Amino acid sequence: MKLLAPERRILTKDIETPNLFRIETYEAQGGYQSLKKALSLTQDAVIEEVKKSGLRGRGGAGFPTGQKWSFVPFQSGKPIYLLCNADESEPGTFKDRVILEKNPHLLIEGIIISSYAVRCHKSYIYVRGEYAEAAKIIERAIEEAYQKGYLGKNILGSNHSLDLVLHRGAGAYICGEETGLISSLEGKKGQPKLKPPFPAVSGFLNCPTVVNNVETLATIPWIIKNGGDAYAQYGVGTAKGTRLFCLSGWVNRPGVYEEEMGIPLTDFIEHYGGGMKDGAKLKAVIPGGSSTPPLTPEEVSQATLDYDSMTKFGTFLGSGGIIVIPEHFSLLLLLERLTEFYWDESCGQCTPCREGTGWLYKMMKAIEHGKGRTKDFEDLQKTARSMMGTTICALSDAAAMPVLGFLKKFPDEIKAHLKEGTEASV
Ligand SMILES: Cc1cc2nc3c(=O)[nH]c(=O)nc-3n(C[C@H](O)[C@H](O)[C@H](O)COP(=O)(O)O)c2cc1C
Repeated sequence: MKLLAPERRILTKDIETPNLFRIETYEAQGGYQSLKKALSLTQDAVIEEVKKSGLRGRGGAGFPTGQKWSFVPFQSGKPIYLLCNADESEPGTFKDRVILEKNPHLLIEGIIISSYAVRCHKSYIYVRGEYAEAAKIIERAIEEAYQKGYLGKNILGSNHSLDLVLHRGAGAYICGEETGLISSLEGKKGQPKLKPPFPAVSGFLNCPTVVNNVETLATIPWIIKNGGDAYAQYGVGTAKGTRLFCLSGWVNRPGVYEEEMGIPLTDFIEHYGGGMKDGAKLKAVIPGGSSTPPLTPEEVSQATLDYDSMTKFGTFLGSGGIIVIPEHFSLLLLLERLTEFYWDESCGQCTPCREGTGWLYKMMKAIEHGKGRTKDFEDLQKTARSMMGTTICALSDAAAMPVLGFLKKFPDEIKAHLKEGTEASV
């Protein structure tokens, strides 16, 4: 088993240092040196390093970060905004919180460097409402950074100026979707908008806007310090670098663990999770947050934690939320809870999502409570399929994918229950 050595970690090497959230501690670990280096380079050279690194967004979609930055029309004459997505609401995902609470200056340094690269002078961190502790820590860190001259006018004597503002959301999953986030930040209902135009061209206040995830931005200082090529040495194929994986469910040691991409999933669960709790048998693994289709035990034994392997098994690395499901856990109950979540969080703009999420939940609830009809299997499939690719944003797909995935890979458990008509138990 080849694991990432602790000293090679990119995001969490210093994470256990006491008081790392204070600026003096962060500076003592070499913090803000990458910013100094970045300011000595041209903006295009910073973008070039990020492109070379092969870094792909860690918010879920995995879009290449350097490429996204180069879509910004730098000559439009309009202000350019950089928004840090700290909404982290996908069930099974809790990695950004670790950075926000334990190493806020890493994120702030990443934001300042990124803002320099994309010619932005006003940036916002949009943090989910429930992260009250993280918000307090970030707010204090921002104040410290202003006092030290890392934020504000002419940062470290350069021509670059940046104001950074923390904005607390009110606790809506949809505000994690980038255009929903933008609407919310504009003071409107957090409802997504049709793309194109993409935010890079027309986003916040109709100006060019880059939206990046917390983990994505926190990776930038390392890339600038060590170079894009050094970053690309980590990982495999199209999956460069390391990732913060969130491990939850029926394991002995749930938590957030940084690993190099490409590691076998079984090794990850065994080593970091300490294996299955109580020696239970594995039933399934959700690999990338609750909206990603599951893996069967057979697939788990072959899968590696990278984009291509997940594609091979019809699923995604998503937001890095690995949920381990034991044999004794009812998939009906799991699907009832998941469908309820997406129904509750749908913003209601698009009919397939507003109605579809409700129907999926109603059917799963009926099945789980022993009132399932044989035709429900097909009805679930039809409803879920009608929700794929038919709406403004991907929440609808996110709700449909786990249902379709579980029906496809675990049909027997669901069908047996429809016949028996008994109530599922945990
Ligand atoms: C329904 C929905 C919820 C999302 N929630 C989040 C979130 O909480 N955090 C996040 O970074 N990205 C989230 N995303 C993805 C964002 O729309 C966007 O792709 C991401 O912030 C871009 O940053 P990245 O390129 O650094 O990954 C969500 C997408 C959808 C469709």
